[in-house]
Amino acid sequence: MRRKLVVGNWKLNGNLAKNQSLISALVSKLKAEHAADYAVCVPFTYLFQAQALLAGTNISWGAQNASQFESGAYTSSISASMIAEFGCQYVIIGHSERRTLSNESNQKAARRVARVVESGLIPIYCVGETLEEHNAGTSKNVVKNQIIAITHGLEDDVFARAKEIGIVIAYEPVWAIGSGQAATPSQAQDMHLFIRGLIAKVDKDFAEKIKIIYGGSMTPHNAAALLSMADVDGGLIGRCALSADDFSKICIVAGKVSQVSLTNMADNGKKALI
Ligand code: PGA
Repeated sequence: MRRKLVVGNWKLNGNLAKNQSLISALVSKLKAEHAADYAVCVPFTYLFQAQALLAGTNISWGAQNASQFESGAYTSSISASMIAEFGCQYVIIGHSERRTLSNESNQKAARRVARVVESGLIPIYCVGETLEEHNAGTSKNVVKNQIIAITHGLEDDVFARAKEIGIVIAYEPVWAIGSGQAATPSQAQDMHLFIRGLIAKVDKDFAEKIKIIYGGSMTPHNAAALLSMADVDGGLIGRCALSADDFSKICIVAGKVSQVSLTNMADNGKKALI
């Protein structure tokens, strides 16, 4: 049974005062919740603040990108090892907004995943098709190439380390991000199962363990249905991550769904014994 993971992607939002009240509210709303894992990925400039406010709580923190380089003449870049100094656990890589705005290719995203893994952090590697690709019926092909970039594009030792550390895949159909129109639970399940199958081709055990989370207009209203799908292991939340109420509701739903699945497993176990 994979533990659910809910991650807030703050994108280009926040300031010291707003972050302070958002994080304090989250800490208090989630302090009694232990059935799932929770994290917020904040702008680089607020990593120190996230660390100061979240250290010792049940909420982890992380960044939204990392350079494919470790150091050197790359003005404005920030390396994964710099990010690691702020006590983070996660780094989002290859978000569609970066792929579009900064022309980030699969290969570049894979190199960034490698640097994140080498720094001992967990990459949240984003994949997903655009609306045009969705309408053209090429979604699975697109996602397959994005997944192959890491299953076949990483050096063997880096992939081995990624398995140890636990890379997270985020399936985020671009047409669902910020649009208010999430994928249906069955659309998400279908793609998550497809992704798990691709990973199983290189490592069956790892495919069972890897978390594949869904992102794109997840809200407190649709979270239970999406998170109840067998292969949806959590959520990557944009807009609703900026509201302590909405984000904590999604986190709490993730915990409840996990407990229901555990109860069902226990019941089925008992039935099997009878
Ligand atoms: P959204 O964003 O929840 O606002 O759709 C998700 C994301 O971009 O990660």
